[in-house]
Amino acid sequence: MVFQNLLIENKERIRYIIINRESKLNALNKDTLAELHTAIDEAFSSSKVGGIIITGAGQKAFVAGADIAEFAGLGADEGRQLARQGQTTVFDLIENGNKPVIAAVNGFALGGGLELAMACHIRVASDNAKMGLPEVTLGLVPGYGGTQRLTQLVGKGKALEMIMTADMITAAEAYQYGLVNHVVSQEELLAKAEEILNKILLRAPLAIASAITAINAGMRDGVNGFETEIEEFSKCFGTQDFKEGVSAFLAKRKPDFKGE
Ligand code: COA
Repeated sequence: MVFQNLLIENKERIRYIIINRESKLNALNKDTLAELHTAIDEAFSSSKVGGIIITGAGQKAFVAGADIAEFAGLGADEGRQLARQGQTTVFDLIENGNKPVIAAVNGFALGGGLELAMACHIRVASDNAKMGLPEVTLGLVPGYGGTQRLTQLVGKGKALEMIMTADMITAAEAYQYGLVNHVVSQEELLAKAEEILNKILLRAPLAIASAITAINAGMRDGVNGFETEIEEFSKCFGTQDFKEGVSAFLAKRKPDFKGE
């Protein structure tokens, strides 16, 4: 599949999705979001792909936000449509995916860029990365889930401070707040993301999908995460992977999971 704004690479079972608009600091315009939807959807349904790493092209930015140039002239209805469409087709799609998605944050992750990283299951940042939700400087609020996911990750007080001041934070601060899982040098960034993903890929794929579903359920209003956990736990007993995991343990050998 050929994209105008993304580079796709494969490294064994890892699918790299690289946002490739370096001259605009990888800002997410409409076309890039549409391509991201297609690329993520395809990766989730491909049997060759075990997990995804999303990163930005170049050394300077992961994604410096939604493309501000496309905001000019929009009204309230178009704004609603933009946020709803983006949330459903890209950000929620990633969060609810059946495969692990890691954001390798290699520089600025601002606005929609930080929202993209936050929709991923795990974030690894390079030590030069800067993160923030500066939408109020434009007279806006975050629209791709930022008010909700930042609050879930760092708590209400820090989320309110970051969103209302529009301040950028460093990778070290993001680590301290629990916004990113690891901070490493830029040279080590992809290796660290791969190391984590390769470890996950040794585990039972259907159990990983169940873990994502159950953990996400606890974040939803009106959904009892404990009940979801019971259902997902029960589902796991019906898989070949469960039989393989237990037999391998009892036979003192490494399991060979097929995701079945
Ligand atoms: N949307 C559209 N274009 C963007 C962009 C965005 N979110 N972020 C950066 N760009 C473009 C710039 O307009 C510039 O394009 P040009 O060379 O055609 O003029 C190019 O990317 C390089 O950015 P520049 O601002 O010159 O780099 P810098 O190093 O001086 O500053 C930032 C880097 C990230 C601090 C600055 O680009 C910035 O504040 N970007 C907007 C961040 C933001 O508010 N994001 C939230 C959007 S909701």
